[in-house]
Amino acid sequence: MNINVSDREIQKYVEYVKEKIQDREHFAYVYTFGCQQNEADSEKIRGILRSMSYSITDEPSRADVIIINTCAVRRLAELKALSMLGNFKEYKRENPDLIVAVAGCMAAEEHIVDQLKKSFHYVNFTIEPGMIHKIPELVSGALDKTGRSFIYNTGNVNVTEGVEPIRQFSHKAWVSIMHGCNNFCSYCIVPYVRGRERSRKSADVIAECKSLVEKGYKDITLLGQNVNSYRDDMDFSALLDNIASIEGDFLIRFMTSHPKDVPDSLIEVMAKHRDKIAPHFHLPLQSGSDRILKLMNRTYNLEKYMVTVKKLREAMPDISLTSDIIVGFPGESDEDFEDTMKALVDIRFDMVYSFIYSKREGTRAAKMPDEIDKKVKTARMNRLLSVQTEISHRINDKYLGKTERVLVDAVEERDGKTVYTARNSANKLVHFTGGEAKIGEFVNVKIIRTGAFDLFAEI
Ligand code: 5AD
Ligand code: SF4
Repeated sequence: MNINVSDREIQKYVEYVKEKIQDREHFAYVYTFGCQQNEADSEKIRGILRSMSYSITDEPSRADVIIINTCAVRRLAELKALSMLGNFKEYKRENPDLIVAVAGCMAAEEHIVDQLKKSFHYVNFTIEPGMIHKIPELVSGALDKTGRSFIYNTGNVNVTEGVEPIRQFSHKAWVSIMHGCNNFCSYCIVPYVRGRERSRKSADVIAECKSLVEKGYKDITLLGQNVNSYRDDMDFSALLDNIASIEGDFLIRFMTSHPKDVPDSLIEVMAKHRDKIAPHFHLPLQSGSDRILKLMNRTYNLEKYMVTVKKLREAMPDISLTSDIIVGFPGESDEDFEDTMKALVDIRFDMVYSFIYSKREGTRAAKMPDEIDKKVKTARMNRLLSVQTEISHRINDKYLGKTERVLVDAVEERDGKTVYTARNSANKLVHFTGGEAKIGEFVNVKIIRTGAFDLFAEI
């Protein structure tokens, strides 16, 4: 369902809250765990809070409303969120009017909501992803002390439009193009907590990108759990083609793509718009073993994956390839892991985000036998990291002595020197010194030293 927050029903609550908190300046604090999709959602949540006249603060101790936007992908992220929530109990004791809320993927897990109901009495409301348009209603209920609310199990079927997000940066922006996931990889909680795939209208996405470019944004990342499944009156390749045709000096990125469906048309569009579409592809492999890929329900095998990699590199020899790998999936044998190591050495990714498998209640993998011993998982992870670090470093060596066009993200003084942090088009982190540059500006720098995770340069 398409929901617009400018809707009268929602605005009624916005006006009500505004009226209620006009006695003084009220502050709201939003903390984000997890992926870029969550970062983008938090920017919208902040936008909704501001529309109710809350000022956004980065100090939870002075806040009147605290919302933590949580991640459920791995247990560790959940534990961190619960521990942070524990710290807010003290604030609530000092200020009983404080509103504390939990948003994001954990708010869609029944057992977590039960735990919050029972053991976190000071939490005013929880709200699953896809329901953020309910925030004005929930805040107004909390201000009136009408009781606690737990919004979950709604099916998460909405696409919320009409929110003016408070963006973290003024030169780079996230743009969600779709929500949810239909893939049900056996280890993954996302389809359960974010619901089925639904795409935003292409006209809305293109209009948002146009307006960002007009405002001077230089780097736009299109987000979706699987952007290749984008469907409206056009597919993802056509959407990308349209956005890359917007006039201006800017870069487009996108993530994430599922290896099962990278069409030739997408590779063609990327090659056609070399100036606008960043030469970077994030293509999560997850495992190099066909047996494990099958158990993971990934629906491709290594051979098919390699064909896509070959096509991408043939079309764009300078493309940067990054990936996700899960170590220690149930039943992963030494041989399976060796297959993954071999794939890493054969493919040579620019960078790999590796994760130790974390059992998620409710997923199919949670019922699979042969959970791998923690020590074995850690040893495999360490081996993978050391091999991949060496590969990443050697790949980065190819930049030595080259001039790269980078977009400046931050400036700081270090040991009396001005050091700039930037990204090149392939999304590599570049630190440079010398000359004058501003945040949000493209500059040409010369690479003088390389590391596995960053490049060092001079203007
Ligand atoms: N355990 C470990 N890693 C996971 N991921 C998703 N679910 C799990 C899990 N249960 C990883 C995958 C995915 C990335 C975002 O997180 O590699 O691509
Ligand atoms: Fe999870 Fe797989 Fe969907 Fe990615 S594609 S969100 S790993 S189920």
